[in-house]
Amino acid sequence: MRTTPNILVHSPREGEAERYRQLISARVPDAQVCISRTECEAQMAIKQADILVGWFFPPSIFKMANKLKWIHKVSAGVEDIAFLPDIDPGVPITRTDGSLIAPRMVEYVIGAIFAITQRFHLAWRQQTERRWEPYEVGLARGKTVGVAGVGDIGSAIGSALQANGMHASGWRRRRATSPGFDALYAGGEELEAFVASCDFVVIVLPATPHTRRLFGARVLGKMKPTAWLINVGRGSVVDEAALAAAVASRSIAGAVLDVFEEEPLPASSRLWELDNVWITPHVSGPIVPEDVVSCFIDNLQRFRRGRPLERAVDRTFGY
Ligand SMILES: NC(=O)c1ccc[n+]([C@@H]2O[C@H](COP(=O)([O-])OP(=O)(O)OC[C@H]3O[C@@H](n4cnc5c(N)ncnc54)[C@H](OP(=O)(O)O)[C@@H]3O)[C@@H](O)[C@H]2O)c1
Repeated sequence: MRTTPNILVHSPREGEAERYRQLISARVPDAQVCISRTECEAQMAIKQADILVGWFFPPSIFKMANKLKWIHKVSAGVEDIAFLPDIDPGVPITRTDGSLIAPRMVEYVIGAIFAITQRFHLAWRQQTERRWEPYEVGLARGKTVGVAGVGDIGSAIGSALQANGMHASGWRRRRATSPGFDALYAGGEELEAFVASCDFVVIVLPATPHTRRLFGARVLGKMKPTAWLINVGRGSVVDEAALAAAVASRSIAGAVLDVFEEEPLPASSRLWELDNVWITPHVSGPIVPEDVVSCFIDNLQRFRRGRPLERAVDRTFGY
């Protein structure tokens, strides 16, 4: 595009769209950047926008997006827009490079594994009761950790597992090599063998129609009784009722969950009650504008030169 494109930044979070505007303007001084926070503001501004960037886009705006040529989502997950019928199939959707979000997620996963092997939960429980009862601690080194989803984030986790002496095993949709893994499995037919081989299973899968409740009773039933499940991908990938049953009956050792099918996790969920389930409120991979804006700006330079955009979402598979 030869002329300067009109960019609309949308985020409902207080001050966040303005933060992106400043970051974009600092790097691309001639950019025309508008911001919106509410659905009503976005409905007004989208009519003039060539490019939409941000997240939590109100679905109603896409019917009015007559000039729109490109949508960039600042998060890695795109399940809310990948299949929206009002988005013209000719308008590319791109997303943030997960490797920009990965550093905190790597620490969450490694931290969870070490907390489990060090049995910190026993210490915290004893401390609240002023009890001193020495216990044996485990060792993460040498354990097999399976990472379901070996994309940008999963690969960073795999490398960190190896660097910490663990055996990293990966599972993905397509059969292909992937750095950061000692073993690789692919496709639905290898999922059960993959989980059966692991001491920890880490889910970093996107929410798509193909991953929905993939980790149900059958797959969970193949995990070792000593194994833990760690989910930092999306809650819809796990059948939460089946997981609660597996964890309550100790058919698996426990679960560390950052993401849930419904967020906030409803107070009525059985998962809250289980002492071998650790719950965090979707905090493992925060989207920090200063961390992720470079991915949009690099694509903006490509867009202006008429070059293909990177990190385009495959709207057939939804990731
Ligand atoms: N908790 C948080 O705060 C947080 C933060 C950021 C991201 N996330 C989640 O993490 C997800 C992954 O991010 P990313 O950047 O690593 O994504 P990515 O680079 O697109 O990687 C996705 C991986 O999932 C695999 N996959 C997709 N569908 C599959 C299927 N049906 N069966 C088997 N494997 C499948 C892909 O397999 P192939 O390699 O064969 O294509 C790929 O390895 C995001 O979609 C988001 O939902 C969560």
